[in-house]
Amino acid sequence: MNMMQHLQVPNRDVEYVFSILKKNNLLAEGKLIYPSIDRKFRLIPLSENIPNIPKELSKYEVIYAKYKVDNRIDTNWLTHLSLLINIDDFEKFQQLWPSSHEFVGDMMIIKLDKTILQFSSQIAKAKLMAHQNLRLILSDQGVMGELRIRELMPIAVRHKNTIITENIPNELCNTKVTVKESGLEIICDPKKAYFSTKLQTERQETLSFAKELRDMLGRKINVCDPFCGVGPAISSLLNQQDLVNNLLSSDLNPEAVQLLFENLTKWDKKPYPSEAVDVEWVYPNRLVGTGDVVKLVTNTEYLGRWDMILINLPHRTLELLPLIIPLLDTSSASLIRGRIVVEEKDIDTTNKIIQEILPKCIHNKPKPKLTIKRDYSSKLRLCSFEAWLE
Ligand SMILES: C[S@@+](CC[C@H](N)C(=O)[O-])C[C@H]1O[C@@H](n2cnc3c(N)ncnc32)[C@H](O)[C@@H]1O
Repeated sequence: MNMMQHLQVPNRDVEYVFSILKKNNLLAEGKLIYPSIDRKFRLIPLSENIPNIPKELSKYEVIYAKYKVDNRIDTNWLTHLSLLINIDDFEKFQQLWPSSHEFVGDMMIIKLDKTILQFSSQIAKAKLMAHQNLRLILSDQGVMGELRIRELMPIAVRHKNTIITENIPNELCNTKVTVKESGLEIICDPKKAYFSTKLQTERQETLSFAKELRDMLGRKINVCDPFCGVGPAISSLLNQQDLVNNLLSSDLNPEAVQLLFENLTKWDKKPYPSEAVDVEWVYPNRLVGTGDVVKLVTNTEYLGRWDMILINLPHRTLELLPLIIPLLDTSSASLIRGRIVVEEKDIDTTNKIIQEILPKCIHNKPKPKLTIKRDYSSKLRLCSFEAWLE
């Protein structure tokens, strides 16, 4: 009959009762807390065969009632949220509660629909309650400007076992964290420089392409990453012995370069400057620093020497592609790995444009073609491509 024991609790006591039941492992798993018909109570599903209701809860009635199965993702945080806000609002905005999030170190980044901004504090509090190891919740207002930095607003922080959602002190909002990816540590600060954990698969693909190119050339490769951010794409390349010979890693954003240097100090196992410097040979095989790619390509010393170029500035790829071609070492096979944002209807035309811009492709490799990686907006798609060049 789909019935089970529920504790019938007046709305105002729900949060308190829930925490006691949770502490004593008395909550039924995968079942929903829901309002009574008169909406004066919440019915909290109890685990089967409970020995005894804790004394402090004995004043509440245990009733048999239909149980409701909880099919939602990440139910734990929604349960907390349902206890922090009015049940009518909870149900009204059911479809809008954020269903995805990004973990960056001990921070969580979430995107909130405008309609539910009024519940930011409660959402963030519920997230912190559900994920005990999290420290900071940031609301993501999108990637901005030339440097592609995310506009992030702290909406809750955990400090000494309390959750603060109002007037959060600045000193508790540190966003510089270390992220683990494929066993490697990447230092990043999403408030100061672009970084996305979602590109992990992309980076693994880049690694396998780099190995393929190395095997094709029969030697270590020279890698150029002129939009490197904090350097995540090269972390796993540098971790491979016998893969990278010379490296150019640069970015327009000096804050990104400062973090890049911290990362390189670890990945390359040798010291890099503690502050960002303009692009220079910091070591005989390391050309690194702050630089605009447009200026970089005017230095003839840097041209014609790279086997693999990464171009990750998806809104400007078509514009910048012709500019970076002279960086390629054309004496042997080379590879350009890029990302681009285009409308789905324009993919075929863009493929043709890319093929026209680029030099001749290696005959036994497919011509560069965009692969859709994910939706960027309702019309735009984020795509990637590889061009194997003669
Ligand atoms: C989408 S982010 C990619 C960063 C990095 N490759 C990653 O995967 O995390 C693009 C980067 O290009 C940098 N950038 C923007 N315009 C540039 C320019 N003209 N020259 C060099 N870097 C630029 C931005 O600062 C940003 O870090």
